[in-house]
Amino acid sequence: MDYFKIAKINDFKDKHIKSFSIFGKKIGIIQHKDKKFSGIEVSCKHQGADLTAGKIEGTIATCHRHQWKYDLDTGKCLTNDSPDLRKYDVQVRGEDIYISFLPQE
Ligand code: FES
Repeated sequence: MDYFKIAKINDFKDKHIKSFSIFGKKIGIIQHKDKKFSGIEVSCKHQGADLTAGKIEGTIATCHRHQWKYDLDTGKCLTNDSPDLRKYDVQVRGEDIYISFLPQE
């Protein structure tokens, strides 16, 4: 699987989730309480709003546009019948964070 550099660990000093635009998609990198990182699509499945712009409580993100809710751990939409958010493998190499080109199966 191919990876590319997306961020640095220092980018997460004041935030635990940040979104990045990659090939027209919004991908969120999350730093968990155990300091590990994960990657997940953060474009709302309704109309594509950036889920990191809305309220995030624990692992639950609420879209700021029409309040669809998602669990960012599982990618499941909690309020509507919707496809899951795609998850991406993330690797830390030194101070840099890399993400896979392709989502997990
Ligand atoms: S765009 Fe997210 S709920 Fe409508």
